[in-house]
Amino acid sequence: MSTERADTLYPTRRLRPSKISIVGAGAVGTALAYACVIKGVARDVVLYDIAKDRVEAEALDIAHGIQFTPVGSIVGSDDVEAMRDSDMIIITAGPKQKPGQSRLELAGATAAMLEKMIPSLLNVAPDALYLMVTNPVDVATYIALKISGLPRTQIFGSGTVLDTSRLRYLVSQATGVAVRNIHAYIAGEHGDSEVALWSCAEIGNVPVSRWGATADGRPFDDEIRSDIAHQVVRSAYTIIDGKGATNYAIGLAASNIINAALRDEERVLTISTLLDGWAGISGVCMAAPTIVGIEGAGRVLEPPMTLDEREALSASALALRHVTADLGY
Ligand code: LAC
Repeated sequence: MSTERADTLYPTRRLRPSKISIVGAGAVGTALAYACVIKGVARDVVLYDIAKDRVEAEALDIAHGIQFTPVGSIVGSDDVEAMRDSDMIIITAGPKQKPGQSRLELAGATAAMLEKMIPSLLNVAPDALYLMVTNPVDVATYIALKISGLPRTQIFGSGTVLDTSRLRYLVSQATGVAVRNIHAYIAGEHGDSEVALWSCAEIGNVPVSRWGATADGRPFDDEIRSDIAHQVVRSAYTIIDGKGATNYAIGLAASNIINAALRDEERVLTISTLLDGWAGISGVCMAAPTIVGIEGAGRVLEPPMTLDEREALSASALALRHVTADLGY
């Protein structure tokens, strides 16, 4: 067979398997890698960490189970080159929250790490979508955006996707309705000042304000709603007190964001992006319901909100702006 004929049969333009790289092989990075592999989120997963033995061992441990997952691969490496041409890079590395410590207290150490890391990542994957998971995630997203100069569509944070899932879980538990039928969002900072947007929350198609009673017959009133919102805010503290870190749910939440982007799902997720007039807020990265697809962070949706909710969101933005300004951004 002539070369010419082979070229016609096998065109040179080929589809490339999807590749994601996870920076950080700690509790969050490894849980995320595991979630990505068992869900088949990408064909190839790279787990990167400066601790060579650790990252190779974590990846190998997951790789040995690949017979039981959708087709895929995972490698561990301490070489930035391994991440070259990734479709998406997810940053989980960073300082660990100690019991009782707030996420915002980690800002200085996170900023120093990002200043070193972002340029070397851009060097190997300038076209990747960047998902920040490292805390404080909204501050990390803002700083990474500024350092990289990338557009807001290309670099965004996990925001309150996990908090929204926690909220839906608790409402589901209280009402006896499946989590998937609870439509409610947490917006603002992924942290102490976050805001539950109750005024647009629905259970099935029923507005929460008209829901009536909980599964055990108590009124589903303001008191229960604020107790649920408080539990969401306290979730990470409670888990860190008990086991030292949170990792599984954030791993699932982040893998969901990656899926939405790589499969162009156009899902509405409360990721953290640079806001421009949303609820009257600009120039700060924080979570709001946003369409996520192949182009990354798309349009930000503005559901109806009460004045109280808007004021709480402004306060959340202000708290975040103070922290980034203190760091010189
Ligand atoms: C949490 C961490 C990811 O909320 O901030 O579990």
